Amino acid sequence: MADLAPPVSNRDAKRPMGAWRKPTVVALVMALVLTGCASDAPQSALDPAGPYARTLDGLFNPVMWVATAVFVLVQGVIVYSVFKWRRRAGDDDDAMPAQLHGNTKLEIGWTILPALVLALVAIFTIPVIFELHAKPADALEVSVTGAKYWWGYTYGTQPEFGITQADGIVTANELHIPAEQTVLLRLTSPDVIHSFWAPRLNGKADVVPGREHTWLLEADKPGVYSGQCGEFCGTSHANMRLKVVAHDQAGWDDWVERMQRVPLEPVTGSAARGFQLFAQKGCSGCHQVDGAYETVAPNSPAAPNLTHLFSRDCFAGCIYDLNDRNEMEAWLRNPQRKAGSLMVVGALSEQEIDDLYAYLETLE
Ligand code: CUA
Repeated sequence: MADLAPPVSNRDAKRPMGAWRKPTVVALVMALVLTGCASDAPQSALDPAGPYARTLDGLFNPVMWVATAVFVLVQGVIVYSVFKWRRRAGDDDDAMPAQLHGNTKLEIGWTILPALVLALVAIFTIPVIFELHAKPADALEVSVTGAKYWWGYTYGTQPEFGITQADGIVTANELHIPAEQTVLLRLTSPDVIHSFWAPRLNGKADVVPGREHTWLLEADKPGVYSGQCGEFCGTSHANMRLKVVAHDQAGWDDWVERMQRVPLEPVTGSAARGFQLFAQKGCSGCHQVDGAYETVAPNSPAAPNLTHLFSRDCFAGCIYDLNDRNEMEAWLRNPQRKAGSLMVVGALSEQEIDDLYAYLETLE
C-alpha cells in the first residue's frame, strides 16, 4: 500500500497565483454579454406597449430599487465581515473563533426589518392587483381557451364591436383586438394549467381547468405582439405560442366582416375532394368548420376551429408559418412533428395531402 501523504492545512496548500481570476473574468464577461440579450426582443415586459403593461412596468422600478437597497445592504455587511474578521498571518491555525449563541436584539431586528420592506412593496403592489382585475363595462370580451398546445378565442355577439353573428366569432392562436380598446379576457382550460402571456400588453394570467380567470389587455397602437404560454403544461409547452394582432378601426372592421362570412363549399376539383376527405379522414370529428362541419364528435379533444384558417399567419400553437405550404404538408404527414400534439390522422397519400390542402386553402 502506498504511503498516504501527511495532511496539509489549507494555509500550506499553495494555490497558483491567479487561479481565481479565470472564473471571475468569465463571470464578468457573461454578465456583460447577457445584459445585451434584450436589445430587440419582441417579448420584453420592459418595453410595454399598452396601459396595463405600463402599470406593471411602473411597479418593476420601485420594487427593483427596494431590492437593490436590500442587496447592497446585505452584501455590504457580508463583505465587511469577511474582511474584518478574516484569518490573518500569525493567527493560530487551530484556535476556534469565539462561539456565540443567539442575539435577541439582532433577531428581532432582522425579523421586523424584512416585514417593513415587504409592507413597503405591498403599498406599491396592492393597487396594481386591483387595477389589473377590474372588469370595465365597455371592454371587448373574449373567451380564451388554453389547450394542449394551442390557444382558442371566442368572441360572443357584441354589436358595439361589429360582432352581430348569433354564435359570434371563433378563431385560434392569433387574438385580434382593436387598438386603444380595453379587452377583457375570460380564461379557462379543458385540460391542464396554462398561462396566457403577451408580455408587452400585460403580465401572465393563469389559465386553470374548472375556473374562469379574467385578465385585461390593451394596445396603444396597431401592431403584432407576440406571446406564449407562461406555465409549464407538458411536452409542447415551449411550442404554445400566440400572437395578439391589434388593428386600427378600419382593420378591425375588415377582420370582423371577414370572420362573419361563411366560406363557400367547394364543388369541383381538388378542393372538393379535400372537402370529402376532411370528413372521411376524421378531421371533422375534432375541427369545426362553420357552414359545413358544425358539430364535432362527442369527447373529442379540443381542436382549433378552422372556418377561417387561412385568415391566420401561423398554426399549431403559432409555431408554423401558414404562408409556407411545405409546413402545412409536413404537418398533415405527421402532426407529431410537434411533440405531444393531440392530432391523430392516419397515413395520407401525397394526393390526399394535396386535396386536403386545396380545401383548407378555401377556408379564408
Ligand atoms: Cu400551455 Cu405551457
